[in-house]
Amino acid sequence: MSKKVAIIGAGPSGLAQLRAFQSAKANGEEIPEIVCFEKQSNWGGLWNYSWRTGLDEYGEPVHGSMYRYLWSNGPKEGLEFADYSFEEHFGKQIASYPPRAVLFDYIQGRVNKAGVRDWIRFNTAVRDVNFENGKFFIKVHDLPNDRVYTEEFDNVIIASGHFSTPNVPEFDGFESFPGRILHAHDFRDALEFKDQNILIIGTSYSAEDIGSQCWKYGAKTITVSHRTAAMGHIWPDNWEEVPLLTKMDGNTAHFKDGTSKEIDAIILCTGYKHHFPYLNDNLRLKTANRLATADLYKGVAYVHNPALMYIGMQDQWFTFNMFDAQAWWARDVIMGKISCPEKTEMVADVIARENAEDSGEDDYDAIWYQGNYIKELIEETDYPNFDVEGACQAFKAWKGHKKINIMTFRDNSYKSVITGTMAPIHHTPWKDALDDSLEVYLQN
Ligand SMILES: Cc1cc2nc3c(=O)[nH]c(=O)nc-3n(C[C@H](O)[C@H](O)[C@H](O)COP(=O)(O)OP(=O)(O)OC[C@H]3O[C@@H](n4cnc5c(N)ncnc54)[C@H](O)[C@@H]3O)c2cc1C
Ligand SMILES: NC(=O)c1ccc[n+]([C@@H]2O[C@H](COP(=O)([O-])OP(=O)(O)OC[C@H]3O[C@@H](n4cnc5c(N)ncnc54)[C@H](OP(=O)(O)O)[C@@H]3O)[C@@H](O)[C@H]2O)c1
Repeated sequence: MSKKVAIIGAGPSGLAQLRAFQSAKANGEEIPEIVCFEKQSNWGGLWNYSWRTGLDEYGEPVHGSMYRYLWSNGPKEGLEFADYSFEEHFGKQIASYPPRAVLFDYIQGRVNKAGVRDWIRFNTAVRDVNFENGKFFIKVHDLPNDRVYTEEFDNVIIASGHFSTPNVPEFDGFESFPGRILHAHDFRDALEFKDQNILIIGTSYSAEDIGSQCWKYGAKTITVSHRTAAMGHIWPDNWEEVPLLTKMDGNTAHFKDGTSKEIDAIILCTGYKHHFPYLNDNLRLKTANRLATADLYKGVAYVHNPALMYIGMQDQWFTFNMFDAQAWWARDVIMGKISCPEKTEMVADVIARENAEDSGEDDYDAIWYQGNYIKELIEETDYPNFDVEGACQAFKAWKGHKKINIMTFRDNSYKSVITGTMAPIHHTPWKDALDDSLEVYLQN
């Protein structure tokens, strides 16, 4: 096979793509030449924690949005690789909501075993992707050597993530607020907000989790302001939910219902943007953060040019196993085992997916929608079949546990859909587990 394939990004999606090609090679198949460009010095994407915010040592925007003390917000049983179980990696079953360092270790284990690190050019930022006469021309910046060069490819796989470029609204009075204002993307250490009255804007996972962390590490009060609807969990006494912020007046926050509160720091948990500054207009995905992305046939192949594919661009209930399902499918398109239909049919596929998502009524429908999507893709490839229904059930149980108590849901455990074994209950309740190092977490 004389094809040459570029993968942009070595986070979980890009690594899934590397593992997909490597598994075909291990099966004796001839695979294309693979080059993965990664702007950071290590793999793992968001899971590769950085203390940095703003710009990195080369002046590049810092990719990381993860923070110290981050624990998985969903059960690991919903994301386990079908070809590499937690038990295979850790030599035993572990508790269900691993901290970041534990998941990072697990992600690395599979690709270390596959031996694909040499396929990655680290510290290399993609600057420009152009398509001419059936070929892609990728201009990259070798950052340590300050050298820019261009290489030619037959296929490009975009795996650069979409939870890194913050969506940052502005509210009246921000310019004269005397405290700190930051976006979740720049949040790192909850201890910074100990004994403070914090205001969080937004009601999704970042709001819930950053608020919970600040509570765990000693914030004085947490006030969460919503644009659409309150989260509605049963919160601790020093936590309240209020309508949208109308303005700041010095330290005083005013809300839509006429109430006000004194605030020390503001954290904007207002989501992220799909942002691909290196892609020309005719290649750039423009989509909302939803389950059925715009313009991607089977959620992967760009309908306007299916030689270009995108991994992991959906909003995410499922993560690692969905990236795998997509990566195996993308590999098989590139290797000629699956063919993409005519453009009209691909566009119809996108519309059908959007309609199916829109017809869902609640989060449970959304979970099963994404589970069925994964099933659909893995049926077309040799990715190991697994009990997707069981993973959906784990998510359902997880949501139930959150409703019972938002500060204890991580103290539950679930059954692996890969090995069938039950996870142990973690040795320490999440709210008391201040040391979340790998060594301590694995002490079960
Ligand atoms: C705060 C936070 C917490 C999360 N917690 C969980 C969780 O608990 N469980 C879960 O399953 N998921 C979680 N997620 C979801 C997360 O999106 C996925 O787990 C996963 O990291 C997505 O992988 P990815 O490879 O698609 O993107 P990323 O992890 O974002 O990786 C993209 C990679 O592309 C590289 N890149 C970007 N631009 C360029 C360029 N121009 N040139 C070269 N390289 C480039 C980046 O450096 C990065 O390494 C969380 C997300 C956030 C923001
Ligand atoms: N521990 C963890 O594992 C963890 C922690 C944090 C995040 N994450 C992950 O990170 C990803 C991103 O989550 P996210 O919460 O950052 O983003 P998100 O899910 O896209 O949510 C964005 C939130 O911002 C609000 N918002 C947007 N613009 C606004 C505006 N102008 N004014 C007021 N509110 C506004 C939205 O409100 P509306 O509802 O009104 O639109 C929504 O509540 C998810 O995949 C999540 O799982 C995981």
